[in-house]
Parts: sequence; C-alpha cells; structure tokens
Amino acid sequence: MRINKYLASCGISSRRKSEELVVSGKVKINGRIIKDLSYLVKKTDLVTVDNKKVFLNEKHVYLMLNKPKGFVSTTNDDLGRKTVLDLAPAFRDTRLFPIGRLDYETEGLLLLTTDGDLANKLMHPSHQISKTYVAKIEGEITEEEIKKLESGIVIDGIKTKKSKIRLAGFDTEKKISRLEVIISEGRNRQVRKMFDALNKEVIFLKRTAIGSLQLGGVTRGTYRELNAKEIASLKK
Ligand code: URA
Repeated sequence: MRINKYLASCGISSRRKSEELVVSGKVKINGRIIKDLSYLVKKTDLVTVDNKKVFLNEKHVYLMLNKPKGFVSTTNDDLGRKTVLDLAPAFRDTRLFPIGRLDYETEGLLLLTTDGDLANKLMHPSHQISKTYVAKIEGEITEEEIKKLESGIVIDGIKTKKSKIRLAGFDTEKKISRLEVIISEGRNRQVRKMFDALNKEVIFLKRTAIGSLQLGGVTRGTYRELNAKEIASLKK
C-alpha cells in the first residue's frame, strides 16, 4: 500500500495531509525518514509518525482510563502538567490520543485510542453519544432548576441540547447535592457551565459512562483495554 494511503488507513489524517507529513520528514519506516511518496509499505515495515508507532485498523488500541483530577487529557501540555498518557506508560511509543476531553479537575471515564477514524467520528458534533456524569454541587437544587437545565440553558451564548438530570441524594450535614447528569454534547466544561448558569458551583465531577460503556471496576488512575463487543458498540 502506498505510504499516504497507509497513513490515512491508520486514521492519521486524510491522504493529502498524510502526503504533507511524509514530505515534511515526520514519517519513518524502520527507523529511517522516508520522503518518497511512491514508497509501498510492506507488512513487516515499522511505520512511525513523529517517532510514534502507527497501526492499521486491526491492530488499533482502545483503552478505557479512569482519569484522576490533576491530569490534563491532552497528549502534551504547555504548562508541563501531567497528562493522561503518563498513566499509560506501556503505550508511550504508541500514537494514542484521547476521544474528547475531561477538564483538569474532572475525573472518570476517558477513552484513548490509536483509531483516528473512530475518534473523529465520536467527537464530531453531529454524533450524539450520551455521556453520564456524577456531579456534586454546593447547596440544594430545586425541581424547577433541574427542569431548566434539562430543557436547555444558555452557556457561551448558545443553548445546550436537552439533557437528563436526576437528584441522587442530598447530604444534609455538608449541604451538598449529588446529581446524575446525562448530556449528548461535548462542549467545553459543559456540565460546570450549565450549573454555573444557575449560580451553582460544581465541587466534584466524574464521568461514569459513555454510551453503554460503564467505567465500572477500573480504579482511579488505571486503565483496561476494551473488548471486541465494546469496540463494536462504539463503532455502531
Ligand atoms: N463537563 C465539564 O464541565 N467538564 C468535563 O470535563 C466534562 C464535561
């Protein structure tokens, strides 16, 4: 397979953008920079982009990680903070990237993959996979406020899509409400901003599910590989 087609099939970028990567010297085959666009990749070739191994579809990696707070969910950080990749050192040489983001203070389910096609599909605004969060907020929240949030509330000048919110408990001593929040969008700091619009401060936020994928028994700071059924459910 020609090098640009190979890179596109790995989900790195379009064939045209892949050509640019090759020409700019970012692509190595078996450790040597290849700038020749007519290069045909062999089954035994080890291909890297920016020194990270890339894989054809059947070899993709899909991880479910339980992000603790205090980690950024990008693959590098200008401020030198710890990234989620620091939690998966076994994949240091793999071109792994997160599907969507969790903010620095938020914990819970983050998917990491080498499958650029799937990541782009799931992150596209038209793709409305549900995301479930547990949120703790200061003080009480009324039925009316919950309804307001559910029907859509303006954040950053745009109304949010409908969401589902359930009051799961109220700690009468600490005066903290515990809620389950299900949204289908992935706007920046969406859950925090939704509550902020009602002057409610989120003091704890954790994502517990994406679609039918539950974080389940993955303890904080660790990860596991998805099984074939789970991968298929994301690709549906
Ligand atoms: N909503 C937030 O406020 N933060 C996240 O990380 C995800 C959703």
